[in-house]
Amino acid sequence: MQEIQALYQSHLNVLLEDSYRLLEAQGFDGLLVASGDPKPCFLDDHDYPFVVNPHFKRWLPLTDNPYCYLLLRIGQRPRLLYHKPADYWHAAAGEPSGYWVDSFDIELVADETAALKALGQWDLRRVACIAEEVQLAEHLPDIELNPPGLLAAMHYGRACKSDYELHCLREANRIAVGGHLAAREAFFGGRTELEVHLAYLAACGCTEAQSPYGNIVAFNENAAILHNDRYGTVAPPQRHSFLIDAGATFEGYIADITRTYAANKGTFAELVARMDLEQQGICGEVQAEVDFVALHERMHHRLASVLSDSGIVTCDADTAFAQGLTRLFFPHGLGHLIGLQTHDVGGWQMNAAGDQYPVHADYPALRLQRTLQPGMAVTIEPGLYFIDQLLEPERSSSLLNWPLIDELRPCGGIRIEDTLVATATGAENLTRPAFVELG
Ligand code: GLY
Ligand code: MN
Ligand code: MN
Repeated sequence: MQEIQALYQSHLNVLLEDSYRLLEAQGFDGLLVASGDPKPCFLDDHDYPFVVNPHFKRWLPLTDNPYCYLLLRIGQRPRLLYHKPADYWHAAAGEPSGYWVDSFDIELVADETAALKALGQWDLRRVACIAEEVQLAEHLPDIELNPPGLLAAMHYGRACKSDYELHCLREANRIAVGGHLAAREAFFGGRTELEVHLAYLAACGCTEAQSPYGNIVAFNENAAILHNDRYGTVAPPQRHSFLIDAGATFEGYIADITRTYAANKGTFAELVARMDLEQQGICGEVQAEVDFVALHERMHHRLASVLSDSGIVTCDADTAFAQGLTRLFFPHGLGHLIGLQTHDVGGWQMNAAGDQYPVHADYPALRLQRTLQPGMAVTIEPGLYFIDQLLEPERSSSLLNWPLIDELRPCGGIRIEDTLVATATGAENLTRPAFVELG
């Protein structure tokens, strides 16, 4: 507790300094950040699961409370309107508590109306507001809602994490790894996809709605569906493979981990082992000042060697790369920024002003085109899949070893994903130590 409190305090101090500088540069005296509103289901009487404004949870680890507002006025103590309803229909937030509360002047509000009334009494001149709620602008005509220049600068800057944020990412990874170990046991214990999913959640101690993204649980050929989130309820007659991409959160920060297992010894098991080696190899190339697009392309070269060595292609690695064959087997990006969001914003930004890289001609699915900086947290998640939609149009190609591809097709594919933080001299893997510790 003491350690996280000190980390949080220093995170908050730096965030305040940086934000004040940004606000001043853009002509604002303050920043109002809303936690968000509940979203009702169409023509129904209940809400979708609440997802907090990521800008809000960067300031404090309050992730499950709508109608909260944070005001940061340059030179003043941060103020928080804390939503504390009197409600016996639903579970409501308790008293504000935790290592963060002493950093804010807190005012309790019972509902949205009370929150808007309290906001109406605050001086919001020259205040920028980050909120999804358009109706705020009607109630508070003085605020400027989501100024693009400010958002761009904040999105760009948050790629690099504070020590507090890295601590939270490590903890999120530890929680998720507990889930991964339980899921692996459930798979090898003969459970169904749905049962594996539930075993994962139970081990993480969270509900599906509290997960950062829908667990991807895929047996056999389902592993070729990059986001397989419809879980089979019947155990397949034969088990070839198991791919699980599932995360967790700690204080609003996200883990995003993928592992792939072969059910039996043989060609696919060898391929999984080789992809794990290559994944670790490319992780070894992560370092500040490395261009992520170049890293992604180097992974394609590694994959070309895997395809050639295993005989999946009939040509050498250089030809496989030059002919674009690796893109048939690895259609997504090597990784993305991660932090407050699974796919954290800002991966396509060239600079803090908000200029964007154009979609990459060869790698349109790549979510990160920036040069790595110290403290930048990214996932590294190479894949090798047997996806009919991509492979079938190439049926006539003699560069592809169809008998072997057809043999491997029931295994679906492989993805191995860790989170790394770049440093000046290399990178820290935030995922693997938890597998060693808990595994
Ligand atoms: N779990 C989504 C991703 O790996 O990007
Ligand atoms: Mn990912
Ligand atoms: Mn993932």
